[in-house]
Amino acid sequence: MSELLDRLIDDHKYMQEIQTCLKKEMHRHFAEGAKIDLGLMQDIMYYLRNYADCFHHPLEDLIYVRLRDRIENPVAFEMLEKMELEHAELKRRTRLLQEDFNALANGETVSDERLKFDLFEYIEMSETHIACENHYLFPAINAHLLDSEGEEIEREWRKAADLADQRLPELAG
Ligand SMILES: [Fe+2]
Ligand SMILES: [Fe+2]
Repeated sequence: MSELLDRLIDDHKYMQEIQTCLKKEMHRHFAEGAKIDLGLMQDIMYYLRNYADCFHHPLEDLIYVRLRDRIENPVAFEMLEKMELEHAELKRRTRLLQEDFNALANGETVSDERLKFDLFEYIEMSETHIACENHYLFPAINAHLLDSEGEEIEREWRKAADLADQRLPELAG
């Protein structure tokens, strides 16, 4: 169980680094007029779509299904219900941002307004989502998830991850 938690904690740290990197790159572009490093942006979006969307959020969902009935604090419960629903919306916002960078890399035009909007939409939700899970989900895992359930989840998740892995080529690019 602690291995699962450690994995989620490490994922969040990495995603926060990604958010910082995205914000810096966009600041360099919009405030300083620098050319966007599209290769870097595409690598970031590839990671978010193929790891965060396919592995990280599904793992949290598998864990939360087991925790749901054990959370007594109504605020924590409400926030965690919201986090589960946000996974689909985060996926949608990540996809839109990926499409922007792909279009730019293909020489197509994407307006600054659209890029700023899609970036803001993604960053804003992603930052609060991670902060909320750090605050409510991780303590709930520590308090309520049994070691035996952690092992079971690990097996289920690996099976789902294998299936997702087979779909990676169609998600790429
Ligand atoms: Fe999440
Ligand atoms: Fe998360």
